[in-house]
Amino acid sequence: MLAIFWIFFVDVSSFPYTTGCSLTTPQHLTCVNFLPSPEQDFPPNLTTLELKDIQQDDLDLHYMLTKYPEVENVSIYDGNISRIMSPTRDNKVKVLQLVRVGVENIGNKFLRNFPELESLNLQGNHLQRLGDISVPKLKSLFLAGNRWNCSLDLAWVSQLNQSVVKDLKNLTCFGVPYAKRNLLTIAGFTEDLKKQCPSYCSCTLPKVYEKWGSHERLEPVFEVNCSYRSLTQLPLNLPPKSRIIRLEGNEIEDLKPLKHDPVYKKVFDLYLDNNKVRSIEELEGSYFLKHFRVFSLSGNRLTEVPTYALDNALEQNNHMPNALSLFLGGNPWRCDCVFTPVFQEMLQKFAPQIQDLREVKCSYVEGDENSLLPIIELSRSSVCRSPTEYSVQALDLLNGVLASLILLILGKLAYDYYYFKKTGRLPWIVTKMP
Ligand SMILES: *[C@@H]1O[C@H](CO)[C@@H](O)[C@H](O)[C@H]1NC(C)=O
Ligand SMILES: *[C@@H]1O[C@H](CO)[C@@H](O)[C@H](O)[C@H]1NC(C)=O
Ligand SMILES: *[C@@H]1O[C@H](CO)[C@@H](O)[C@H](O)[C@H]1NC(C)=O
Ligand SMILES: *[C@@H]1O[C@H](CO)[C@@H](O)[C@H](O)[C@H]1NC(C)=O
Ligand SMILES: *[C@@H]1O[C@H](CO)[C@@H](O)[C@H](O)[C@H]1NC(C)=O
Ligand SMILES: *[C@@H]1O[C@H](CO)[C@@H](O)[C@H](O)[C@H]1NC(C)=O
Ligand SMILES: *[C@@H]1O[C@H](CO)[C@@H](O)[C@H](O)[C@H]1NC(C)=O
Repeated sequence: MLAIFWIFFVDVSSFPYTTGCSLTTPQHLTCVNFLPSPEQDFPPNLTTLELKDIQQDDLDLHYMLTKYPEVENVSIYDGNISRIMSPTRDNKVKVLQLVRVGVENIGNKFLRNFPELESLNLQGNHLQRLGDISVPKLKSLFLAGNRWNCSLDLAWVSQLNQSVVKDLKNLTCFGVPYAKRNLLTIAGFTEDLKKQCPSYCSCTLPKVYEKWGSHERLEPVFEVNCSYRSLTQLPLNLPPKSRIIRLEGNEIEDLKPLKHDPVYKKVFDLYLDNNKVRSIEELEGSYFLKHFRVFSLSGNRLTEVPTYALDNALEQNNHMPNALSLFLGGNPWRCDCVFTPVFQEMLQKFAPQIQDLREVKCSYVEGDENSLLPIIELSRSSVCRSPTEYSVQALDLLNGVLASLILLILGKLAYDYYYFKKTGRLPWIVTKMP
């Protein structure tokens, strides 16, 4: 780790310089592992100072550049230096390379001491973001191989001048959730997101994925959170590529936009917990029902759902069986012999997907034995034998009537046969036939 200090006058004698330096050319000093010792005298007109793999905490650039004032190129590669004492402004350094030395921060406080600086190389360090740096004569800047933190605000990326930052296209994010993704692409996504996010929601980019499996083509996953904003309708001005939408704790009743509005076309996960949704019949045949991944409707006002349509849509959903989650608990479900048996069958069929299966309960009805019981546990007889089920009685009645009619006809047939055998006369009905 390298912290850069801005100390101009340091007691040089406290630094144990040892040998390890040699002139590669008459004006180019190369030091490996060690810095030049104070006793060593190299020509004062050195122009290049190259330091490799220095194993020392402090590097006093002020001292070095006072001793070798003609140096224009300071190149430091590798090593564990933890502090650099910056020079005074009267140096001639045009090229500064701090490569793989663990720089965590760099700013104007340090850089303003290099008024002639034209080229700065900071590759392979631990920088997480770049502050505003102003170096008047800077012509090239190298930044690849750092630990750019793409979870932080990336506004600084759009400030980078493409003709100055020579490896701009090679910069990548470091660490979760966008490891090794192109920094410019991610910064572009977060900028779009910031522009498109409605003021009353918060928008994030939890992840990106590769489109068509190509490393080059990334698709953002935008998450929009508009929970607890007293919304009475599904918001329509959301970022076009919203994939995860949270609308918990609002007052939304109508789900029609989900079927018709293009904003909702790409939604995977929709959280509508604790709203006022009474019906999802509008969603029959919708693209959403066949493509969602999470649909959370717990704590709404649903009494029934179009079971056949829902069953059908779920079967076709490409997130089945493992990725799909449906929440239906906390709704006042109707429990009667018409709806419940079919609904119960659907609950059983999609039990692995319905995450709150046991919370799917009959609504409260005073005096009803099924009141607030989990629907999945109801026996068929308990929903269908209730005296209020007129439809069952009507069916039973019809069955009784049909059975007695059959008996009557069979009886009449037997009687006619007996009558014919005994008297040889045909039944009255036959005599009337042509
Ligand atoms: C650098 O200094 C040395 C003596 O210290 C001298 O011999 C040499 O000519 C100088 N080189 C240049 C390019 O000035
Ligand atoms: C600075 O010195 C380094 C190390 O020798 C060298 O690789 C680099 O090309 C030099 N840069 C310039 C601009 O001369
Ligand atoms: C310098 O870093 C190397 C590898 O990172 C490590 O093995 C070594 O102990 C470090 N030396 C010092 C003095 O910290
Ligand atoms: C980018 O840098 C170039 C060259 O240094 C300069 O001419 C140009 O004005 C800069 N562009 C911006 C937008 O700062
Ligand atoms: C960018 O990365 C590619 C591949 O890793 C490399 O070939 C290229 O030289 C890099 N460009 C710069 C400017 O560093
Ligand atoms: C990015 O910065 C945030 C906030 O400072 C921090 O919590 C997170 O660990 C950082 N991520 C990486 C990969 O360093
Ligand atoms: C969504 O926003 C609400 C209200 O600001 C907050 O309480 C909730 O934690 C957020 N949810 C997520 C998953 O970020």
